[in-house]
Amino acid sequence: MSALPGSAEGTAVTGLDSSPVEPAAAELPPLTEQTRLEAREIIARYPVARSALLPMLHLVQSYQGYVSPEGVTLCAEELGLTKAEVGAVATFYTMYKRRPTGRHIVSVCTNTLCSVLGGQRIMDALSADLGVHHDETTADGSITLEHAECLAACDYAPVVTVDYEFYDQQDVDSARELVAALRRGEKPLPTRGAPLTDFRGISRQLAGFNQYDDAAAAIDAPGALGPTLVGLRLAEERGESAPEMRRAASSSSGAGAAEAAGVESAKRGAPEPAGRSLVDQNDGTDTPAGTEPGTSGQGPGKA
Ligand code: FES
Repeated sequence: MSALPGSAEGTAVTGLDSSPVEPAAAELPPLTEQTRLEAREIIARYPVARSALLPMLHLVQSYQGYVSPEGVTLCAEELGLTKAEVGAVATFYTMYKRRPTGRHIVSVCTNTLCSVLGGQRIMDALSADLGVHHDETTADGSITLEHAECLAACDYAPVVTVDYEFYDQQDVDSARELVAALRRGEKPLPTRGAPLTDFRGISRQLAGFNQYDDAAAAIDAPGALGPTLVGLRLAEERGESAPEMRRAASSSSGAGAAEAAGVESAKRGAPEPAGRSLVDQNDGTDTPAGTEPGTSGQGPGKA
């Protein structure tokens, strides 16, 4: 019996029975010997092999667009785990997809702050436009839509991410324009962070393989700290400051001294808030065309 997520055995492990893994699509690119070599490269990064499972699952997604049954088997074989163990991990985290995804995954935060500022309206509008609901993919395969819990960017609410890159302070119109551009094959620059790639491309990055000749392009991009620093600026304008932290009673030795020293050190070393410089104007082109997966700095070939 299979122990894949969604299978009877996998369900016994995970307690989940509502998201069955769909059979691999016929056009799915196969996992090759190159995939195994890359999986072993990931494993070699860790002192304990099973620690490599999370990036290995991203690697599988970078080839096939989701954690396929074939991918679960590969991870289990390479790590000496059971498929049930791999399935239990793959079904725990929402970033591991149980069915083939579209070219881009659009996540709309519908958690409290985003929702009251319009996140749910954005989700409803996109759902109506695209004709899909949460965790469904458009018929043309361009977009998988999902609602997301807090994306840790409440100061930019309401936020939408595409392939986990941020598009801040959206409204219904801007989100519609964003998705329309994606469906035309465009890659609008995120508000901050790295340039946009696609779901398989970002999965490759999450597996620890860079897509770009210039490594900085994948990790550095313009910052947008405005809303985050509003409180700090207001405090400076008003001459307000946080009260001094009380030193521990025994400040000359032991943990108290270490704590106090750490606070002082943190104060001295605190960097000036400033936006990051734009290192590269790369438009976020995804997997370079005509390249073989696994070569340094390259992504998997297109299906
Ligand atoms: S509630 Fe949407 S990012 Fe926190």
